[in-house]
Amino acid sequence: PDLEIEESVHLIPYNKKFEFPKNKIKLGIQLGSGAFGIVYKAEADGIIKKNVTSTIAVKMVKPGSDSSYVNALISELKIMIHLGRHVNIVNLLGAYTRNINERELMVFVEYCRFGNIHDYMVDHRKYFVDQITADGHLNFNYKAKSKNPYNENGFDKKYALKNHDRNDTETDEDGYLFSDVIDKPELRYQYFGDYEKEKTKELSTHDLLCWSFQVARGMEYLAEKKILHGDLATRNILLADDNIVKICDFGFSKSMYSSDNYEKKSEGLLPVKWMAIESLQDRIYSTQSDVWSFGIILWEIFSLGAVPYPDIPAMNLLMKLKEGHRMTQPSYANPDIYNIMLECWNEEPMTRPSFTDLIDWIGNFFQGDE
Ligand code: ADE
Repeated sequence: PDLEIEESVHLIPYNKKFEFPKNKIKLGIQLGSGAFGIVYKAEADGIIKKNVTSTIAVKMVKPGSDSSYVNALISELKIMIHLGRHVNIVNLLGAYTRNINERELMVFVEYCRFGNIHDYMVDHRKYFVDQITADGHLNFNYKAKSKNPYNENGFDKKYALKNHDRNDTETDEDGYLFSDVIDKPELRYQYFGDYEKEKTKELSTHDLLCWSFQVARGMEYLAEKKILHGDLATRNILLADDNIVKICDFGFSKSMYSSDNYEKKSEGLLPVKWMAIESLQDRIYSTQSDVWSFGIILWEIFSLGAVPYPDIPAMNLLMKLKEGHRMTQPSYANPDIYNIMLECWNEEPMTRPSFTDLIDWIGNFFQGDE
């Protein structure tokens, strides 16, 4: 018999190799608060490599929180274990679960030092280099030219695919988890990490497309693993070194272990303006509803962090969408980019593109860019 989807996440086992002692963690400043908990910056001794201190992010529930918050973080931890590693998700580094009976739980993840892309875009608006010409074409030769889309030989989708589908959880002889992003310089080329940008703070159309491509890559990986995110928004996309972006906050995520759709039972706080029409109407979630949210992310990215539907109160949104209302082309998109958003917002979920389609479509914008 089909299991309730809420229950299926409990079938994901905890893996003891992730257990990491609390006394090797030095908590720092608060970075933010997610759906169910608080995130702190921290220093951890030996979590990535023996005798090396790494900066990490620690997610935990507020002391004295309701046990449902602890359970939500356990679900998130198990989903991260099930997911394995991908360069475009915030990867799990370890967890402290030993004191779970006292409702104490810590989840250790990669630290992304530039924070979420929403705030990053808003802060860098004045340095934006618009590479869309008056007639709507992309011109990457115009200022702020980024080098090498995916490798030294130009665009090579096969190479990119091969090198990003590293879903294995690698450990060295001592059982320490590798941090692949830092250790594999060949990966840097694929996202053309450009240290210049850090100095100039420049942000270009090329970067926006590059981020969009990477979010689609991370989401394709989630979809393959039958995980739906449920809260895709630029506030949940983090920027790391080398222009790499990572999807985070799996607090709303669900495992689709026994069906491709998930009907959410309870309400709670909902990210209404990012939600698909069927999620708003019937609480139905699927990879296709994540695709809708991806369309909203594109709109946020190509407006450099504007608020979606600024003139529509959340309670009127469903009615407006059912009447066929959609957001207009954002300031920094061209008609080709805008069309991708519109495809993501098709009323019928099955007619929306897949994340694989989206990778293809966005990848095509880099063609000929050397
Ligand atoms: N804010 C929330 N999670 C974070 C992370 N992993 N890195 C940096 N800032 C964060």
